[in-house]
Amino acid sequence: MVLILKNAHVVDPAAGIDEVIDVKVEDDRIAEVGHGLAHEGAEVRDLSGKYLVPGLVDIHVHFRDPGFEYKEDIETGTRAAAHGGFTAVCTMANTDPVADTGAVLEYVASKAAKVGKCRVFPAGSCSHGLEGEILAEMGDMVAHGAVAFTDDGRGVQNAGMMRRIMDYGKMFDKPIMDHCQDESLVGAGQVNEGIASTRLGLLGWPAAGEEIQIARDVALSELTGCPLHIQHITSARGLDIVREAKARGANVTCEVTPHHLVLSEDDITGAYETFLKVNPPLRTPADRQALIDGVADGTIDAIVTDHAPHAPWEKAREFELAPFGMIGLETSLALILTNLVRPGIIDYGRMVELMAVNPRTILRLDQVSIAAGSVADLTVFDPEATWTVDESFFESKSANSGFIGRELIGKPTDVYVGGVATMIDGAVVD
Ligand code: DOR
Ligand code: ZN
Repeated sequence: MVLILKNAHVVDPAAGIDEVIDVKVEDDRIAEVGHGLAHEGAEVRDLSGKYLVPGLVDIHVHFRDPGFEYKEDIETGTRAAAHGGFTAVCTMANTDPVADTGAVLEYVASKAAKVGKCRVFPAGSCSHGLEGEILAEMGDMVAHGAVAFTDDGRGVQNAGMMRRIMDYGKMFDKPIMDHCQDESLVGAGQVNEGIASTRLGLLGWPAAGEEIQIARDVALSELTGCPLHIQHITSARGLDIVREAKARGANVTCEVTPHHLVLSEDDITGAYETFLKVNPPLRTPADRQALIDGVADGTIDAIVTDHAPHAPWEKAREFELAPFGMIGLETSLALILTNLVRPGIIDYGRMVELMAVNPRTILRLDQVSIAAGSVADLTVFDPEATWTVDESFFESKSANSGFIGRELIGKPTDVYVGGVATMIDGAVVD
């Protein structure tokens, strides 16, 4: 089966391409990249006006399967991923049962292989039941495909426990993806501690509760040599800790979400918008600016969504009772195009690094490049499509987006995974 994708503007910093050029795909791989490509009997698609980049990867998503399938399942989660332009995701372990044994990872991987619309690389938990006390079956999970370990949703409270987790992470050469949250400081905090918590009369979640664990775990990574990946970083000081660690040559990377880049605590008005209740919380406008600077200067390695679906009734409760999290897969690319690429804060090449290249490097996955021989995982988007985020747009089972009603410019249109179309002209392929 030969497919020729014609006239797209191809951007791939690794291959040194930034021009309108054709891409020929044969079976699951790119066969040729060049001008005026033709092949008898090939399927030809004209992608004039669109951009074509290495397939996007989101290394932080919650698909809720097994256990909370009323919020999302592997089929709807991967449909949302394809609809958002992603070719692969890494799923978090806070399911029921928790992904703390090889058996649960095997379930996720095998279901994804059957019904998935993108590649699914599961993360295993660090501790049994995410309780931070007993080491999870890390070796068993590596044998069943774990690409990383994380207690995401909760911080590991005990430094000695985290050290043991990192000793094992180092042994298996798997990154520890670190949700930084010191419970003795954060407690039942709901929003950023400071102006927002005072104005709203809600318990505060101080940035220090995140920064202290970032500093601790950077030290433990330098002690053990374990690759450390800081999840959903939110504050200027946290970013400075990572920046300094990188300058020392520490084995540390970090990620940021579109919601922390685009929103701040000021966006939570008195109307109790529970869709804006996320963990860690939206921080100050100055923190937000520091994150944008970190994306531009290379301190931040990856953009991830922390796609966190919840049912309508759960988010319809009082702010203190509503769960943390918002969905993100279907708005991520458009938010980054609208808020970072269009204003010239980053260029398309840097966007590809943040959303395709570095996520694969962090998880030690094979790279995808727009070059002959590479696996044909491809994302195509229309940089000029103007649209308004609407609940009816989502393939996700849930609609708890903080961006409903927002006008965005740029939209994924076509996705190929191993040369197979998972989205064509904006519609997920059934
Ligand atoms: O907002 C969040 N939601 N942050 C997390 O760390 C967990 C996630 C969830 O599982 O809902
Ligand atoms: Zn998460």
